[in-house]
Order: sequence, then structure tokens, then C-alpha cells
Amino acid sequence: MRIDLMAGASLSAAALRCAAEPTILVFDSGLGGLTVLDALRRARPDARYVYVGDDAAFPYGRLSEATLVARVLTVMERLVATHRPDLVVIACNTASTLVLPALRQRFTTPFVGVVPPIKPAAEATRTRLVTLLATPGTVARSYTRDLIATYAGACAVTLVGSQNLAGFAEAELAGAPVDDATLAAEIAPCFVAEADGRRTDVVCLACTHYPLLLPRLQAVAPWPVTWIDPAPAIARRVVQLIGPLPREADRHGAALGAFTAGTCLTDALRTALAARGIGDVAVEAVPLPMQ
Ligand code: DGL
Repeated sequence: MRIDLMAGASLSAAALRCAAEPTILVFDSGLGGLTVLDALRRARPDARYVYVGDDAAFPYGRLSEATLVARVLTVMERLVATHRPDLVVIACNTASTLVLPALRQRFTTPFVGVVPPIKPAAEATRTRLVTLLATPGTVARSYTRDLIATYAGACAVTLVGSQNLAGFAEAELAGAPVDDATLAAEIAPCFVAEADGRRTDVVCLACTHYPLLLPRLQAVAPWPVTWIDPAPAIARRVVQLIGPLPREADRHGAALGAFTAGTCLTDALRTALAARGIGDVAVEAVPLPMQ
């Protein structure tokens, strides 16, 4: 597999063109990146995918910025050497809003990140009351604040840093879902009603784990809202970079799963992964440094 990177070019659509069957590594702290993998596989089913969950360090949302940068660089060092991907998708807002510059400096492999979908949210709202639902880490980032200032200046944006929702999504896939009341309480701060009758009408799912719970979030929400999942936009960006599905592509590329601890791998989760096309799952241990 070969990629042409034009001299001196960063990530531009014309700069990166893959021949056939590119290897795309999709990376997250756990299972959230599966929502991005699904969108990628719909767009380029012929690619070879390696899905990696850094479950040894989950959840990323509670790590300090310095710890998170060091952790992602350490894990990526191993992954790039082992899998030699043509492109890496950091399918994690918590990491992308912080680590992308360091990754691009360290590796020549192209990286695509997932960041809070503030721009489409600001375009979709009618009431100008938008909520950004994310991990505490993403909510605290200056990158996130800058996105809001740039794209949502006309909106009142409520920032909700959820302590537990990513864990609830992991539990759902592992076959141990939380009950409706617990889920409803966790997302209650997303819903704002003003005295003038305006109510929140758009919620950004700014953590890739959350779309795993979407049908349940819709069911327990106090009123209907538009939920914005950035995964389809990420898939479009990747297609811009590696090119569209070749006309001659006639088969699905393989998908391999790998976890840095593997403790999350229940039978229910293996079944859920197999249903997403990941039948082959390995543990590629990257232990945490001693505290
Ligand atoms: N899936 C991740 C995100 O998009 C992070 C979840 C976590 O590890 O806290 O932010």
C-alpha cells in the first residue's frame, strides 16, 4: 500500500491519495470510536481497518492534559510501528482537542481528528440554545472554547461535562446497561428552558461514545432535540483524503480489533464487535506507567 504525500504538504485533499485497500487505524480510549468506524466502513468498505481502544487508560476524560498527551504518544508509537497505517483517525474528542499537534509533529502518518460539532450545531439551532455534551476534559479545553467563540457567537452554549456517560456507553455494549432514570439524570443539565419560552433544541454529541446510546438518549430526553453526531462528517473528510470507493472494489476489507488491556472484553462485547465486522480481537498490552 502506498500513499503519495506531496512535498511539504500537510493534509490537503489532493495531497493524499491511496492506491487500493488503505489501512486505516481508528483510535479511541475505548469503544466510542466504533461510532466513527461504522461511518467509515459505510464510506470505504474496501479499506482495511484496525480499531484500537486504549482501555488500559479509560476514561481519557479524567486525565490531566500532560498525562493524556504522554499516553497517546506512547500508545501511538507502538501502533504505528505494528500496523503501519496509511491514515489514523483519532476517534476521540478528548484526545483530538489536545494531542493532534503533538502527533503530527512526531509522526509522518496523516491524522484526522474528531472535534466537537459546534459549527453544524450553530447552523441547526432555531432557538439559539445549544448544548455541548462531552467529557470533563473536552469541556475544559481552550480548543473547545475557541470553537464556540468562532462558530457559535450568536448562541448561548451550555457546556455539560459528563462524568459517567462514556462509562454508561461501555456498559451498554458490554451487556450491562444502566437504567433509564440514571441515564436521564446524567443528561438532565443539557436541557435548558428560558423564561421567554425558548428551550434547548440542539445537543452536540462531543464524545464518540455517546452516539452508542442515541436511541436511549432520545427516549429519556425531556423534549425532542436534534442530536449532532460528527461521525458522518469525519467519514467525508477521510474520503476526501484517501479518495472515494474505487469502482473495481468488490469486497469488504478486514477489520481487526485491539485493546491495550482487554479487561472490557466480555462475551456480550465480543458479540457486539463481531456484529460490527470485528471478529478478530487481540490484546496489544500497553500498561500504564507505575503511579
Ligand atoms: N470517546 C472519547 C471522546 O470522544 C472519550 C471518552 C473517555 O475516555 O473519557 O471524547
